[in-house]
Amino acid sequence: MSDKKLEDAVPDAPRHVLRDGTKIPQLGLGTYPMDDTEAEALIPEALWRGYRLVDTAVNYGNELGVGRGIKASEINRDDIFLTTKLPGRDHGTDSVRRSLEGSLERLGTDHVDLYLIHWPNPSVDRYVESWQTMIELRDQGLAKSIGVSNFLPEHLLRLERETGEMPVINQVELHPQYQQELLREFHAEHKIVTEAWSPLGRKTDILQHEWIADIARKQGRTPAQVILRWHIQSNILPIPKTSNVTRMAENLDVFDWDLTDEQMRRLKMLHTGLSGSGFDPNEHEEL
Ligand SMILES: NC(=O)c1ccc[n+]([C@@H]2O[C@H](COP(=O)([O-])OP(=O)(O)OC[C@H]3O[C@@H](n4cnc5c(N)ncnc54)[C@H](OP(=O)(O)O)[C@@H]3O)[C@@H](O)[C@H]2O)c1
Repeated sequence: MSDKKLEDAVPDAPRHVLRDGTKIPQLGLGTYPMDDTEAEALIPEALWRGYRLVDTAVNYGNELGVGRGIKASEINRDDIFLTTKLPGRDHGTDSVRRSLEGSLERLGTDHVDLYLIHWPNPSVDRYVESWQTMIELRDQGLAKSIGVSNFLPEHLLRLERETGEMPVINQVELHPQYQQELLREFHAEHKIVTEAWSPLGRKTDILQHEWIADIARKQGRTPAQVILRWHIQSNILPIPKTSNVTRMAENLDVFDWDLTDEQMRRLKMLHTGLSGSGFDPNEHEEL
């Protein structure tokens, strides 16, 4: 298949509208743990298959490869929604600007579409001043939208209290085994989009669960598609990672069919409250 045909083969994912008016695809590609070489080769493959949202971070060590892959795809930069994240070691009023400028240089672009604080690192207690600088960087056009990752309601409320501005998105671990219902309700009340990392439950056995296999059989779909469709119907934005081009297309093919209400009810019952990572945002220190 030629590249042009690949580009035509899968329609772009539909979009959520963030509170700031920005449109973001309803499903994206995760890039951890791709290295630069892998990312450079795989990002064009994903973009040609219809992905328009790419999720990276300073701490993935692949921003250079992601940027090169975007260029190599020859798809217009304005049509791509690019996310990167501020690492813990760069929290602080002055270091945030330096950190984002470094990311932009590696990514080969003059702005990111979404800039996230990777973890709150509350024991360091510099996420509020970092957020204040991110507001300024957003206002200067270096990031179109700003948000956070792994924040709890208490962290989000503190941002609003001390800076007057809530994030438009919170990227958190979320999959059928760990459904984060209370956090999602809080997000909905505050018009924060819930973005799911480990949406397929990496480090859990959820992809192998017999109920998911059963629903997949009945739908003529794969277990991964069932889980990703559950995210879409639950108004959650998943960013599954795959380095396999066949799975790239499989994971994006979740927009023109529905799980039944009964299937959604069964999937809701898979929640055990057990996170795959075991990371507690109040204690985890992202360096
Ligand atoms: N903000 C944060 O703190 C944070 C933390 C972790 C991750 N993230 C982001 O979230 C992204 C996704 O999370 P994740 O990588 O932890 O987990 P994930 O997307 O739930 O799972 C990825 C794993 O599932 C496999 N996989 C993908 N598609 C599949 C399919 N259709 N069938 C079977 N297996 C499939 C992948 O293997 P193959 O590659 O071999 O297909 C990989 O091993 C990351 O890449 C990263 O961008 C953010």
